Amino acid sequence: MSVQEEEGWVRAIELDDLWEGELVQVTVHDEQVVVVHLEGGHVSAYLSACPHQGTSLAEGYLEDDKLVCPAHLWEFDARCGLGINPDNTKLAPRPVRIEDDAVWIGRVSDKEKTVARSTGSDS
Ligand code: FES
Repeated sequence: MSVQEEEGWVRAIELDDLWEGELVQVTVHDEQVVVVHLEGGHVSAYLSACPHQGTSLAEGYLEDDKLVCPAHLWEFDARCGLGINPDNTKLAPRPVRIEDDAVWIGRVSDKEKTVARSTGSDS
C-alpha cells in the first residue's frame, strides 16, 4: 500500500476498509496507532500501546463507545481516550481528519508525545 502524506498528515486507511464498529492498527509517523470507527461515524486514533502494560489495543474490542484492552480488560472512552475502568488513566490521542473517504492521522510534536507519555502511563 502506498502511503500518501501531506504536510504532516498521513492517509492512514480508507473508510471502506474500516467500517463502523471496527478498529485497526496502522503505522504512521513511525508509531503504532489504533484507529477506531464508532457506530454513528465518529473516528478517533490513539497510540496503540495500552497505558497499563503496553498490549496492543488493536487486539482489543469495542463495546459501544468503550475500547477494551484484551489483556486485563481496562476500559477507555473511545471518543476521547479517557479511562473508564480505571478512571485515572488515558490514552494518547493522535489528530484525525476525514477527507476523500479516508482517515488521515496528523503528526504530533515531540513535546506533545512527552506529555502524552507522562500522563498516559499507569502501573
Ligand atoms: S495491558 Fe491493557 S489492561 Fe493490562
